[in-house]
Amino acid sequence: MKHEPTCLEMFLTRLAFFLYGKSVYKDFADRIPLDGGERVLDFGCGMGTVAYYVAKKLPRGHLTCLDISERWLNACRKTLHRYGNIFYLQWESTALTNESFDVVYCHFVLHDISKNDLERVIPVLSKVLKPGGVLIFREPLSETAKISIIKRLIGQNRLLLRDNRIIDTPMMGNALESIYVKQ
Ligand SMILES: C[S@@+](CC[C@H](N)C(=O)[O-])C[C@H]1O[C@@H](n2cnc3c(N)ncnc32)[C@H](O)[C@@H]1O
Repeated sequence: MKHEPTCLEMFLTRLAFFLYGKSVYKDFADRIPLDGGERVLDFGCGMGTVAYYVAKKLPRGHLTCLDISERWLNACRKTLHRYGNIFYLQWESTALTNESFDVVYCHFVLHDISKNDLERVIPVLSKVLKPGGVLIFREPLSETAKISIIKRLIGQNRLLLRDNRIIDTPMMGNALESIYVKQ
């Protein structure tokens, strides 16, 4: 149960989605390179804030929404109930072994994961990407130590930096947004 959000956290996330849906979550979805037929993984989907905008961009593809929390995943199902192109997965270390994706994205997720867990998670995210596939993340710039660990692990897992930018978000201040390509 330690991974489950409180009612207050869920309320604040719904409020942020209502207030900043387009300026934060759609803005990130628009940065993801998509043609419409890709297999995409939303790692740490929460209530589906980004997935809500990504699902519309995949008329011939599909989106897998993954979260460690059952409560978030249930909230995500409600947010995306109109879409038929979604799979839902509750994270377990082995859950992704048979999957492969063109795109994996993480929106304000990796900084929340402990160093030990990142050592396990980032190799799996790289492994499930097809060659030429894209990993894109956005994380708060204030988490400098965590960002260094994330960059080191990404560099050790056959992912090459394609683009980097710093953006100012209304909720989390400055955030680093990086796009990597699998070798
Ligand atoms: C700050 S929320 C962001 C949710 C969503 N991406 C967004 O931007 O609204 C972080 C999410 O990552 C999930 N999470 C944390 N650690 C995880 C892990 N090891 N595996 C999968 N999901 C995880 C949490 O349950 C939570 O839903």
